Amino acid sequence: MKTAEIRQKFLTYFESHGHSIQQSAPLVPHNDNTLLFVNAGMVPFKDFFTGAAKTPFNRAVSCQRCVRAGGKHNDLDNVGYTARHHTFFEMLGNFSFGDYFKSEAIRFCWDFLTVELGLPKDKLWVSVFEDDDEAANIWVKEIGFPLERISRCGAKDNFWQMGDTGPCGPCSEVFYDHGDHIEGGPPGTPEEDGDRFIEIWNLVFMQFDRQQDGTLVPLKSTGVDTGMGLERLAAVIQHENNNYDIDSFKELTNAVAALVPNEQGIESTHASVRVIADHIRSTAFMIVDGISPSNEGRGYVLRRIIRRAIRHGHKLGISEIFFYKLVSVLSSQNKLAYPELISNQGQVEQTLKKEEERFIQTLDTGMSILESAIEDISGSEISGEVAFKLYDTYGFPVDLTADVARERGLTIDMSGFDSEMNIQKERARKAGDFESKKSSVVIENPTEFLGYDYFDNNATITAIIKNNEPVNELSEGQEAIVILDQSSFYGESGGQVGDQGNLSNKSSQFKVSDTQKQASSAFEHFGILDSGSLKVGDKVNAIVDIERRKKIMGNHSATHLLHESLRLILGDKVNQKGSLVEPDKLRFDFSHDEAVSKSNLDQVEALVNKQILGNSEVITEETDIESAKKKGAVALFGEKYGENVRVLSMGDDNFSVELCGGTHVERLGDIGRFKIISESGIASGIRRIEAVTGLEAYKLDKINEDNLDMIASLTKSNSVNLLEKIKQLISDQKSLEKQIANFQKQLASDQSVDLISKAENINDIKLLATEVSGVSAKDLRDLADKLKDKLGTAVVVLAVVSGKKVSLISAVTKNLTDKYQAGTILNHVASQIGGKGGGRADMAQGGGTDPEKLKDALNSVKDLIG
Ligand code: ALA
Repeated sequence: MKTAEIRQKFLTYFESHGHSIQQSAPLVPHNDNTLLFVNAGMVPFKDFFTGAAKTPFNRAVSCQRCVRAGGKHNDLDNVGYTARHHTFFEMLGNFSFGDYFKSEAIRFCWDFLTVELGLPKDKLWVSVFEDDDEAANIWVKEIGFPLERISRCGAKDNFWQMGDTGPCGPCSEVFYDHGDHIEGGPPGTPEEDGDRFIEIWNLVFMQFDRQQDGTLVPLKSTGVDTGMGLERLAAVIQHENNNYDIDSFKELTNAVAALVPNEQGIESTHASVRVIADHIRSTAFMIVDGISPSNEGRGYVLRRIIRRAIRHGHKLGISEIFFYKLVSVLSSQNKLAYPELISNQGQVEQTLKKEEERFIQTLDTGMSILESAIEDISGSEISGEVAFKLYDTYGFPVDLTADVARERGLTIDMSGFDSEMNIQKERARKAGDFESKKSSVVIENPTEFLGYDYFDNNATITAIIKNNEPVNELSEGQEAIVILDQSSFYGESGGQVGDQGNLSNKSSQFKVSDTQKQASSAFEHFGILDSGSLKVGDKVNAIVDIERRKKIMGNHSATHLLHESLRLILGDKVNQKGSLVEPDKLRFDFSHDEAVSKSNLDQVEALVNKQILGNSEVITEETDIESAKKKGAVALFGEKYGENVRVLSMGDDNFSVELCGGTHVERLGDIGRFKIISESGIASGIRRIEAVTGLEAYKLDKINEDNLDMIASLTKSNSVNLLEKIKQLISDQKSLEKQIANFQKQLASDQSVDLISKAENINDIKLLATEVSGVSAKDLRDLADKLKDKLGTAVVVLAVVSGKKVSLISAVTKNLTDKYQAGTILNHVASQIGGKGGGRADMAQGGGTDPEKLKDALNSVKDLIG
């Protein structure tokens, strides 16, 4: 059975047992800053386990893409060296939210493995948490599993939690015995780390929510979270002991091996080949999910993995840009499971290619520095300084250097590296580092949002947070966060900024400067109590700043129109990569490989304005994912949870259909007008458009119009003939410049007769050192040449003064250059007028800034010659 079939079988089996099939969420966790990447199937459902969000279904099944590189679960360093570590893998999981628990979870697991997949029962082994008698009993009594093949293990192995905080519980794991020809022992024995008994499925019985201080708070209702690595399961079914030998990996490793020049004769089982095969999977999906290579956070993890792959390519002797060539192999094997890979293939390839082109420039130099550092080493450790230099100057992520070190049996002085890094950071630290705006006080009660229909409402204060502590009361002049039971204020999300306004009652007025949303959907109204006092339980009228909000709504709807127009003009490879909707302008980031031409921008702008003029009604519907998909909603991706989604349709014939939680205009005409103000590149393959609407667009037009009026009046023309007039002025100016140049030339040659007569005779040398006028600095050189020729054996020094600036030239006839150098003479003069210059022995140019002293300086040339 192929990997793709196993994936499908799992989903179908659980669907037939009442589980709702959920698409894999993107790798970037939605609304969760505690995790770098989705690293287990349950992550997208975290809020369903803790009760922070309502569950639209109580059973679900998924095949979730996961990355374990960076953060709590990090396997990057092991990839390529073991049979089962990957930066990217797929986790099959079934979930119960307050529905079934241990007994059914174990039964489903057993039936799927032994009946559906037909695995031999005597090849399986089980572990349970040390004091979980209940689970052990179910295995023995309900399943009939032999007691002697059940191990009891401690928390390290059999208590699972997602991260330092969050849902967790005891677990029971199922192992597969790959046979006694392989070394290793059952779980719980000293030999457990061998490759013989391999964990294939983890059943977690969710019971607690781990708090920041480590305490375990029981969940309101228990649940089940299971996880089975698809690659491991495929290995078992395909009778392979190494994950890299399953069908899907083989396709990739063969493709990598085919890129290696023939004479190297590389096997597809070579560690570097496997590293590359692993890394193309994680990096391609990370890019699909909106991450770009950068120097921090997720972007840096991506960069590290790409560079590690490239380095391994070089190690294999691949000398051309290669990594991106593997994307097509990956997308064609995942056509059905991950169609987003196909639709983003071009962008993924471009991003990888660019990153490789960038890194390749420093890879060779960096490697040779590293090689010579390794040669010079006395012990077995590469210094932190070298590792840091490679990182800082040659773009070698430290784990790449560590990877090379490991191949040579060396290590890196990590603390030396860290201290170099800290010094660097200290240097670079600037004010205004990003800090989360939200408070860390968690408010359980969500705020009901009324802002789709109202700009103000009556509300009761449910909590007040001051200096990040809950308080009961506020007095005049204090800054705080106020939480209400219901609010018309929009909390920042989906790129739309939070609302401003007032919370007031008869005696008090709280001015709201920003609104943020907690994960629990409690709305935080940030602001200051301008007058009176407020306490928890008080009633207030929450009034949104309507003018501001209306501008935001116009900008938000315009953003949707812009998105669709870009897709129509540039092609549907254009994908949203980010947006910011503010009152005064909107910003939209999207994937596109080159600058958008002026004519394309004009077309986009015209399309948006046409829709605005159409003035159709904006339709909002709450519907299920399937119907939204049918309508062609954009941005389904990553917004799949919750049974119903909010679909915004706008424009003629449903011009734009998007999922969106933001606030929008009623009719498109309310936007007024749309104007693009800039287009630029912000990262490789990502462009940014900024635009304004409504009154702001009008203001901009007005400024432009006023400028034009001013230009027309300065040029004594009017709006009708302005362009002709400017063209005329430019051509007049050009011909005047030409005339002046001719006059100057003429003047220079007229002067030359006069000047020749001025030359003095000193020791048979003709010396002419004088100021001339009406000659451009450019013509000075010609004049000096001409004079020199006419004078015969001569030294000529000429100066032109223009304001405070003096231009100098000195020329010496060839027959004198071994006695007098033009450069020396020039510097002799220039240094007296605050300047300098240089040139050849027969001709030098320079200048100075002190015309007052010019006369004496020119006279002094005589002394030099004399
Ligand atoms: N969440 C559990 C795991 O990742 C199933 O192992």
